[in-house]
Amino acid sequence: MLRDSYVPARLPHRDAEIRQVAEVLAPALRGDVPSNLLIYGKIGTGKTAVVTQVRQDLQRRADAADAKLAFISVNCGNVDTAYSLLQNVGNTLARADTDRIPTGWSLDRVQAAMRRLMETKGGTIVLVLDEIDRLVARSGDNVLYTLAQINTELDGARLVLVGISNDLKFTNHLDARVRSRLNEEKILFEPYRAPQLQDILADRARVAFREGVVDPGVIELCAAYAQLESGDARRALALLRLAAEMAERDRAKRITRDHVVKAKNRLEKDIIVDCCRSLPPHCKVLLYAILQAYERRRTGVLTGEVYDNYKRLAERLGLPPLHARSISNYVSELESLGLIRATIVSRGRGGRTREIQVDVPISETMPALEEDPLLAPIGRPKNRGQTLLTNFDNPARTGPF
Ligand SMILES: Nc1ncnc2c1ncn2[C@@H]1O[C@H](COP(=O)(O)OP(=O)(O)OP(=O)(O)O)[C@@H](O)[C@H]1O
Ligand SMILES: [Mg+2]
Repeated sequence: MLRDSYVPARLPHRDAEIRQVAEVLAPALRGDVPSNLLIYGKIGTGKTAVVTQVRQDLQRRADAADAKLAFISVNCGNVDTAYSLLQNVGNTLARADTDRIPTGWSLDRVQAAMRRLMETKGGTIVLVLDEIDRLVARSGDNVLYTLAQINTELDGARLVLVGISNDLKFTNHLDARVRSRLNEEKILFEPYRAPQLQDILADRARVAFREGVVDPGVIELCAAYAQLESGDARRALALLRLAAEMAERDRAKRITRDHVVKAKNRLEKDIIVDCCRSLPPHCKVLLYAILQAYERRRTGVLTGEVYDNYKRLAERLGLPPLHARSISNYVSELESLGLIRATIVSRGRGGRTREIQVDVPISETMPALEEDPLLAPIGRPKNRGQTLLTNFDNPARTGPF
């Protein structure tokens, strides 16, 4: 019940948002056409959870009242091309296998088939485009334009778009016509504050744990940490779940604040390691070069030294080294990800350079980078003593060596 996939029946502190979303979509129950809706807010602010709940509630009411209402939800993180989106929407509406849209058609043909399937379905069709910003980033806004004006071509059906985004500025990239269509109604989800996160966690903890298992202060601490991380309920839940796992591993009877602190450190490391793994190749080599230099010196390193080190490593890996200017951009990128800090230092006679400090745990990050086949040739050898130690500790082994 602490997992992300679990949808709780109650969403504390989202009553107002639930009502707002429901009010925008409710006209569908009377056979009227609702406005398009854009929902935006930072990560873990309950956008997906709220829409899921409203969807279930409206569907139940529509079925009871015999109103023609259908919902289609698409996560644009997975379905992010125009083709796959239209195909997906069409196939959700298809009743028979023979109606299904295969891969390999022209986009026009898919569009026409999808329109026919909508027409056959009839009534109001609400299309929820979760993480819509990813769709636009990957394949532009043409497909949104198609969907936003499709009602002019439909007779017995009406399409309503509900876009969900955690990129607050993504509409800036949209064509003005698409933007105004999508923005007919707009709802902002504010980040949760610590007391709200406490209520969310307490609700879940009541069902997830036996009584007396959660020490006083544990939920408060999880909530406080998560508030610092931009009020993300997902993060708060992950902390509590991980703290519980830490307690189990310790064979403890209760979850303590210490477990929460350990969980927070673990989670931060995991996030950093994941972030490093997803960097582009040259950026990884650069980060590795920075970490190597930093490990040697244990103090800030200057960009000149970092660049030399990077060039040496890149050459050993058979990669043509990038120009210093591109590397300088990557330094800024690593900084904006919070992995390093770069400060400008003057070097006499008006010369200026950047000094780089490392903000990640070296002992975790270097092995994570070395795991990448790209970097494996320059990685350090794995701990050689390991086999010996295991033999040593093996209780089955008796007698002298
Ligand atoms: N008010 C709430 N009460 C209970 N659980 C909540 C509440 N808000 C969010 N959650 C839980 O927190 C997690 C994150 O919520 P959700 O997925 O809805 O966030 P989101 O705003 O869609 O985030 P993202 O932008 O990353 O997609 C989910 O597990 C959800 O069940
Ligand atoms: Mg979401």
